[in-house]
Amino acid sequence: MRSKTDRETFKFSEVLAALSHALDMVEGQPEGHVVRSCYIGMTIGERIGLSEDLRSALFYALLLKDAGCSANSFRTAVLFDADDFGVKRSFKTVDWSRLPNAVLYAARSVSPQGNAWAKARQFFSVSKVLPDVGRELIQIRCERGAEITRLMGFSEETAGAIRNLDEHWDGGGHPDGLKGDEIPLLARICGLAQTAEVFYSAYGPERAEKVVRARRKRWFAPDLVDVFLAEARVGNIWENLHGDITGAISRMEPEDRSLFATPERLDLAAFAFAQIIDAKSPFTFQHSEGVANVAVAISAHMGFGPEELRNQRQAGLLHDIGKLGISNSILDKGSSLTDEEFAKIKTHPQLSYEILSRVPPFESIVERAANHHEKLDGSGYPRGLTGEDLDLPSRILTVADIYDALGQDRPYRKALPKERVMEIFDEESATKLCPESVAALKELVSKGVI
Ligand SMILES: [Fe+2]
Ligand SMILES: [Fe+2]
Repeated sequence: MRSKTDRETFKFSEVLAALSHALDMVEGQPEGHVVRSCYIGMTIGERIGLSEDLRSALFYALLLKDAGCSANSFRTAVLFDADDFGVKRSFKTVDWSRLPNAVLYAARSVSPQGNAWAKARQFFSVSKVLPDVGRELIQIRCERGAEITRLMGFSEETAGAIRNLDEHWDGGGHPDGLKGDEIPLLARICGLAQTAEVFYSAYGPERAEKVVRARRKRWFAPDLVDVFLAEARVGNIWENLHGDITGAISRMEPEDRSLFATPERLDLAAFAFAQIIDAKSPFTFQHSEGVANVAVAISAHMGFGPEELRNQRQAGLLHDIGKLGISNSILDKGSSLTDEEFAKIKTHPQLSYEILSRVPPFESIVERAANHHEKLDGSGYPRGLTGEDLDLPSRILTVADIYDALGQDRPYRKALPKERVMEIFDEESATKLCPESVAALKELVSKGVI
């Protein structure tokens, strides 16, 4: 494994490909959905002879196509009274542009845990907004995805491909009902690649080809369908999708346009994914950025150098990335959680660890991100570590996380006033929380720095 000191030799695409596994979770898709979609889309792009600039724009559109996916998770869970992962997963295999299919899909998806009365009531409320609900959910996802792509400095071609990837050739798609050549070419490729991958992963290559063929001229541009089917017939597109294809994806980026994982790009990736993480639930609005700011302020107060401050910022921005793997039906639950649900919540730091440990340039922030709910006396989770195991950056991050969280509303309580927050830090300092970090926090609060 290359070390962090070599991080500029890492391609930025390898970072985004690794982080895309978090987006797969949000969409309820099997691991690798994004990278396999990228392989399919880039194969089409190469076969139709796209220029290097357009292939570069397509490449990043395919890797970031689901960047807006968390923005409709809360709405999805509330609307369907269901686990957002299940609803999103089944949505991808439904031909929702046909109203009877959309109605059937809604009837099957609402209130899976509820009794017949609850299902009927929820179906009634969804049916009142059909078919507009499909447009609404897609619009939220695509617009947010495009915004995040712009935030990362990618071109309008990339942002436009993401914004329009659910438009259909016959005008029946969303969000704008664009038709034929009105749909940007890169968006047409992304839409086809996405659907082909979903059916390939769920049912295998034959079904994927059948669905794409059946939606020729309805969902997909006929020329692209022909290229895709010819490639599926004579090429080895499906064989190449097995296993970890990150390396193969990396080689598909036009060489002259390759982007590397510079510290500045890693900052941008961390900031962009913080937006994705915080958008998952209305209760975590700007939480990741808040934790990053507090962690950096405490660390600076303690005399950390520039590289460590950068690490603390990135760790603060990404510490809760594992929450993307927790259903909104648990995250936003107003009433008290069952033991099983609480156990699920407690897995999110481990999920953060698993996602971030795939990204070698983030190797120095993995442990501290995974430790942000650990306490000095061993009462934290998920590993029950103690003061002996927790380094100073981890301890600071825990204090920063608690400080920001206590000041925000949660489904089960209102935001606490600052005086009460500081009392809690006094009560837990030394036993559960690092006394030096708490002292630094208190000083910064008293000076109005945070
Ligand atoms: Fe957390
Ligand atoms: Fe947090």
